[in-house]
Amino acid sequence: MTDRPNVLVTRPIMDAPLARLRERCDVTVHENDFGIPRDELLHVVAGRDAIVTMLTEKVDAEFLAAAGPQLRIVANHAVGFDNVDVAACTDASVLATNTPDVLTETTADTAFALLMAAARRVGEGERFLRAGTPWIWGPLMMLGQDVHHKTIGIVGFGRIGQAVARRAKGFGMRVAYNDAVNLPAEVEAETGAERLDLDDLLAQADFISIHTNLTPETRHLFGAEAFRAMKPTAVVVNTSRGPVVDEQALADALEAGEIFAAGLDVFEREPEVEARLLGLENVVVIPHLGSATVDTRNAMGDVVVDNLFAAFDGARPPTLLNPDAFGG
Ligand code: GLV
Ligand code: GLV
Repeated sequence: MTDRPNVLVTRPIMDAPLARLRERCDVTVHENDFGIPRDELLHVVAGRDAIVTMLTEKVDAEFLAAAGPQLRIVANHAVGFDNVDVAACTDASVLATNTPDVLTETTADTAFALLMAAARRVGEGERFLRAGTPWIWGPLMMLGQDVHHKTIGIVGFGRIGQAVARRAKGFGMRVAYNDAVNLPAEVEAETGAERLDLDDLLAQADFISIHTNLTPETRHLFGAEAFRAMKPTAVVVNTSRGPVVDEQALADALEAGEIFAAGLDVFEREPEVEARLLGLENVVVIPHLGSATVDTRNAMGDVVVDNLFAAFDGARPPTLLNPDAFGG
C-alpha cells in the first residue's frame, strides 16, 4: 500500500465523513443513481486498498478476486451484512466491517412510524385526500386499530428490536419477543419484554415487528402459515430484510383479511416492489429508509471511515465482522 490508500466508495455518502476520508486517501466515489452494474463493479474494484460497499452489492469470492491481493478491508455502509460473504473475506485475508449501533434508534423510529401509519391508515387517508375524494367527517370513517396498550411481538430481539421495545413501553404496550438467542435477565428487565415461542407470539400479538438478520433460517420465516396464525386485526411491520417475508403469502393474507395491515421498509426483490402489494390499501410502503436521517447517515459514514483508518494503521477496526482475518 502506498502512503495514500486507494479507496472506492460505491455510492455517494455524506460530505463530512467523505471529507475525512479524502484527507488521508485517494477516493473514487462511484456516482450512479442506480448503483453499479455487476460487470462494471468487478472492473472498478480492481487494485483498491479498501472498498466501501452498500447493501446492494454482493461481496463474494468473485468480487474479492476481482479486487486483487492488495485489498485490506471491505466496509459495508449498513448494519445488515447478508450481502457480504464474511467467510470469503476471511479466506482472502480481507477485513469486513458493518455499521451497527449508530443506526439502532433511527431504525426503531422507522419501525414505529410504519407501525402507527399502518394501524391508523395514514397512507390510505393521504391517498384519499390527494385524490380529491369528496368527504365529510363520519363516525365510521376509516377506522383503524389502537396501538396503545396492545401487545407487540418483536421477532429478532437484537439492538433494534430492543429499541422498538423501549418505544412500545412508552405507549403502554405489553412487549413480547422471540429470538433464537436467550437474552440476559437484565435485558428482559430493562425492556419489560417477555419471551414467547414464535407460535404463541404470532397468536397473541396485535403488532408484529420483524428485526431478524437475513439467514437461510429466517428466509420466508413469515409465510402463509405464520399469517394464518395471527389475529385478523394484526399489523405486521418489516424493517429488516425483505426475503424474511414471503410477499405472495403476505399479499394473500392482506387480501383475504387474515391480517389487518402491513408496513414495509424492505422488499423481497429490491428495488422491485410486488405489484399485488402496491394494489392494496392496507399496506404502507417506504423505499428502505430505515436509517435514512441526516445525523445517522453522518454517523454511519464516520463508522465506515473509523474502520478504514484503523485498518490502514494496522489496528483492529471497531466494528470488525471477521476477527479471524485480524489474527483472532
Ligand atoms: C440497512 O438496511 C442496514 O442494514 O443498515
Ligand atoms: C441488527 O443487526 C441489530 O442491530 O439489531
